[in-house]
Amino acid sequence: MADLSVHIGKLELKNPVLTASGTFGYGIEYVDFMDLSRIGGIFVKGTTFHPREGNDYPRMVETPSGMLNAVGLQNKGIDYFISDIYPKIKDIDTNMMVNVSGSTVEDYVACAERMNELDKIPAIELNISCPNVKQGGMAFGTNCSGASEVIKAVRKVYHKTLIVKLSPNVTNIAEIAQTAEAEGADAVSLINTLLGMAIDAERRKPVLSTITGGLSGPCVKPVALRMVYQTYKAVKIPIIGLGGISNATDAIEFILAGATAIQIGTYNFIDPEISVKVVDGIHEYLDRHGFQSVQELIGALS
Ligand SMILES: Cc1cc2nc3c(=O)[nH]c(=O)nc-3n(C[C@H](O)[C@H](O)[C@H](O)COP(=O)(O)O)c2cc1C
Repeated sequence: MADLSVHIGKLELKNPVLTASGTFGYGIEYVDFMDLSRIGGIFVKGTTFHPREGNDYPRMVETPSGMLNAVGLQNKGIDYFISDIYPKIKDIDTNMMVNVSGSTVEDYVACAERMNELDKIPAIELNISCPNVKQGGMAFGTNCSGASEVIKAVRKVYHKTLIVKLSPNVTNIAEIAQTAEAEGADAVSLINTLLGMAIDAERRKPVLSTITGGLSGPCVKPVALRMVYQTYKAVKIPIIGLGGISNATDAIEFILAGATAIQIGTYNFIDPEISVKVVDGIHEYLDRHGFQSVQELIGALS
């Protein structure tokens, strides 16, 4: 069987298949459905320094080939994560990584500092791309100076693998990725959700309480692939690609576009075992095409 292992910064992944933040809980919710040790890693729910209630309902709506969400980073904050969640997830036999968000630079830094102390969390994913919060979030990730400020500050206090999650709601994804690389990020992940909107024509009202929300699922895949491809041409650090992946072929396409690893998001809601199926499908593809290692496929478009 071909070798599926890849590296992201100091992180060694047994395979390139990861689950996306906000779509896989803390991982423990999935133990009855699959063997978590079979995937390369899990990005747990977005965590902030202070607890957050999230946005008012309705905050999710289905679209023809994806969903719009405006959850708004609901979570109980870093203290709760450390006291109540960490002990339950620290012995899961895969890379457990935390998605960190904030309203201010100070929030991000304080959260990252605490994450540094947790032995079994080898990496954080800095979410500078959440479209569903009033302050911070995407505001940091849509211009180079905002991105630079927060990444630089976090890099000073966080000494393990730092992954920066990029927003697709920009005109030039490559320049934001280059900023992340210049400020010391070990990798970038992309994409977060695309800003969208749904309207109820009968009631003549927006569907979501927040009016706009983040679009995800199969419909965003072509945009995500394009952005991974453009980013691969612009930076040397590894890219984690995501957006609309629903099978192994989708995952292979992202790797060919330049991703070292991939994440599966919305599709976990449709098939909770999808990530393991994608691992098997990548093996099958590599064997069928005679590749020894998945690394041979990274950016290997002919
Ligand atoms: C319900 C929901 C909650 C999400 N929460 C987060 C989050 O807390 N942090 C984050 O960086 N991304 C979050 N995302 C974005 C996903 O991680 C992912 O970037 C996006 O959905 C695109 O991938 P997909 O099309 O495979 O879902 C969320 C997405 C959904 C659908």
